[in-house]
Amino acid sequence: MVLFPPAKVNLGLHVLGKRDDGYHALESIFLPLGWTDILEVLKDDSVAPGELRTVWTGLDIPGDTNNNLVVKAHRLLAAKHTLPGLSAHLHKVLPMGAGLGGGSADGTYMLRAINDVCSLVLSREELMILAAELGSDCPFFVDAQPALVTGRGENVSPLSFEFPLDGLWIVVANPGIHISTAQAFGGLTPHDRNTDWAALASEPASAWSDRIQNDFEAGACKRHPQVAALLDALGQAGASYVQMTGSGSTVFGVFEEETTARQAAAEVQANYCGPLAGMG
Ligand code: C5P
Repeated sequence: MVLFPPAKVNLGLHVLGKRDDGYHALESIFLPLGWTDILEVLKDDSVAPGELRTVWTGLDIPGDTNNNLVVKAHRLLAAKHTLPGLSAHLHKVLPMGAGLGGGSADGTYMLRAINDVCSLVLSREELMILAAELGSDCPFFVDAQPALVTGRGENVSPLSFEFPLDGLWIVVANPGIHISTAQAFGGLTPHDRNTDWAALASEPASAWSDRIQNDFEAGACKRHPQVAALLDALGQAGASYVQMTGSGSTVFGVFEEETTARQAAAEVQANYCGPLAGMG
């Protein structure tokens, strides 16, 4: 079976406080993008039962592949279920350490793939619990639908209101800087606040800046002037709203017109990003 684990962007990322378990309490609207990795998972008779053979292509994945969330997802299920030998091929397209959730998407899609290929019949709720064990951003990718995400990332509520994104264009641009999520959290001072996310949905994108922020953005802009430059460039190019996603370094701009969005994408790609600027 072949799956397409998508990137996400966070519309607003409010870090409300530090929890007793050491994680931070968040609020954010997660939006899936049409920009994906490619994951193939097959039963493989040449692999011993319970084992996994992996093939990695595309972008280089730094670090020990034993820590890759695809491998961890397999380990998690192999510890609880009798699995046949499996092969997984991950073709990596999405930049890593970029705030796009690509690694989390790969891990959760691996859970979904094994569930289907091995007919484990795990429910959505069971997948949510397993995904939360893999990583804080993982539960969102069980449905990969626009959602309000709270807690440390484990509470995923499909939006109960229409978000006015139809007809808007999102230009996503990655400056090629790797930012560690754990370090980014370490540099934050959380502050509690109430956000009426449903009310925001009835406002035009140009009004969002006063009401939603990514709390990681100021720190990332200070440490990496390229992030600030990209945000400025998208604003200058006509975006109604610009923001960094996740703990960075990817940024995005929301545009009302397709032509303006395409011009902005071409401009930031040529001047700031090389081949990784995308549009969805
Ligand atoms: O859950 P995950 O392994 O993706 O988190 C990576 C690190 O980011 C955690 O070890 C923690 O330091 C930090 N984190 C946090 N609060 C969250 C999510 C992540 O402090 N809600």
